[in-house]
Amino acid sequence: MSMESRVLRPIWLDDNGSTVNVIDQRVLPHESIVAELRTVDHVITAIKDMFVRGAPLIGVTGAYGLFLAALNAPEGKPENDYLIQESYRLKAARPTAVNLSWGVDRVLAAILQAPLPERVNTARRVAADIAEEEVENCRRIGEHGFPLIEAVSQKKNGAPVNILTHCNAGWLACVEYGTATAPMYVAFNRGINIHVWVDETRPLNQGARLTAWELGRHGIPHTIITDNAGGHLMQHDLVDLVIVGTDRTTSSGDVANKIGTYLKALAAKDNDIPFYVALPSSTIDWTIQDGLTDIPIEKRDPSEVRYVQGLCQGRVQSVLVTPADSPAANYAFDVTPARLVTGFITERGICTASHEGLVGLFPEKNQKPTNM
Ligand code: MRU
Repeated sequence: MSMESRVLRPIWLDDNGSTVNVIDQRVLPHESIVAELRTVDHVITAIKDMFVRGAPLIGVTGAYGLFLAALNAPEGKPENDYLIQESYRLKAARPTAVNLSWGVDRVLAAILQAPLPERVNTARRVAADIAEEEVENCRRIGEHGFPLIEAVSQKKNGAPVNILTHCNAGWLACVEYGTATAPMYVAFNRGINIHVWVDETRPLNQGARLTAWELGRHGIPHTIITDNAGGHLMQHDLVDLVIVGTDRTTSSGDVANKIGTYLKALAAKDNDIPFYVALPSSTIDWTIQDGLTDIPIEKRDPSEVRYVQGLCQGRVQSVLVTPADSPAANYAFDVTPARLVTGFITERGICTASHEGLVGLFPEKNQKPTNM
């Protein structure tokens, strides 16, 4: 299927309403492959093996996973015990992004309240609602984040605003617009002169492969840099603003994001450069406070560190870059403490990275964290 023939989204329901299609992000930007997910096991594999990735997209995919559970229930009856069991399996696919359990649990809660004959339709509708809400959340993040870029542009008399981002927090990681990229798209579309430093994001190169591809398709000037280059650029006044996404944000404002984000925050602090985190509220885990102790950090297969993947003779291939017998460790995320974050850009506006800041925007969540 040509990806050029429709509005690009990384996930969509087939016309028959029973197959979830996803762009296989493992092979982007070199190959365009659409994977068809028809069972819960397909969804678990797609999340674990990162056909789909990025916190909001994982949440939407998990939500559709529970829809597929209902659709394919034994003897056509999506009974409570079976659905709850399938929800556990889905939520265990990846540990760090809280959006996964958020999306799965929201569909589960809705279908457990529905009578048996209504459950499949209810699940399909709630999963689709979640996708549309995330689109709208990202659109709003773009609007709220835009003035930050506009202000720098005015201060620099229209010279390029240099924004550094880490990993891919673009529409591929969400459904449309992205989180960290949303203000960039708005600024560019409104004629602001921007340039984006794209961290390559080892080991899976989400920046070099995905963010660069997204920005390039939109015509946004960008430059791919090694993950270690950011500090140097900041010391030389070549970064005006850092905007990244997050996979889980605690109620006190600590932020888990792709490994290496913490080092960018440290360098930004040392160089007085604003460091913003863009997030939809689905990424806030209101039940925890301390990011370092309470956020589960995914450790992935060390082979992702030992091998690097790229285009070779027209095909995506992997090559070994380490000594064959050297062990490797693959920590997928790190935690940036709230004190290093200048502010959060959310669908409801910008706030400080603190409990007060978050509940100022989301007063309905203003209760003591439960540590459940
Ligand atoms: O391992 P990934 O590719 O799922 O990690 C993605 C990130 O770390 C993103 O920055 C995060 O999910 C925010 S996406 C809007």
